[in-house]
Amino acid sequence: MAFQDCPHCPPPTPPEDRRSFLTKAAAIIIGGALAITAPIAGLFVFLDPLRRKSDSGGAVLVASLNALPENGEPRKFSVLATRVDAWNRSPNVPIGAVYLQRVGDKVRALNVVCPHAGCFVDYRGAKNHFFCPCHNSSFALDGQVQDPKSPSPRGLDNLVVEIRNGTEVWVKFQNFRAGTHDKIPV
Ligand code: FES
Repeated sequence: MAFQDCPHCPPPTPPEDRRSFLTKAAAIIIGGALAITAPIAGLFVFLDPLRRKSDSGGAVLVASLNALPENGEPRKFSVLATRVDAWNRSPNVPIGAVYLQRVGDKVRALNVVCPHAGCFVDYRGAKNHFFCPCHNSSFALDGQVQDPKSPSPRGLDNLVVEIRNGTEVWVKFQNFRAGTHDKIPV
């Protein structure tokens, strides 16, 4: 029996209404999926340990190039970074310190921590070197061990420096294990 001959059958749904129904259903499903996955993805980004140390892939803005004497004399700077945990975002938290030296059009960065046992080294302008007061290690301006009697097993730790926007000195700050010949990040 043809449809037109069936007195109890509902009239056929117009194709336009079916398309509209399918479009709305798809929108609801996709919207629901986004509502669930977006907060989860955001949580992973928020808790990513690589984001806890700094705002920019591990590099931290430390100083302006203009703050460094052109004669290469070292200047000491604190390294501040933004720390983020599950509940707080704390800007400008001290995470260490570096000596910066302008060498021509480049900048050298040395971690201030002595690789022997972790004391902070001083810059001694009169001798133009770095000196560790704990066990008398001395280091040249490039960080190499100066006095062979120094107990430090390696020179001061060089850090990667980037000059951004012509004047900003960014440092990839890192601490290394004390008491070892090799630089082992901690
Ligand atoms: S901690 Fe620097 S020489 Fe021992």
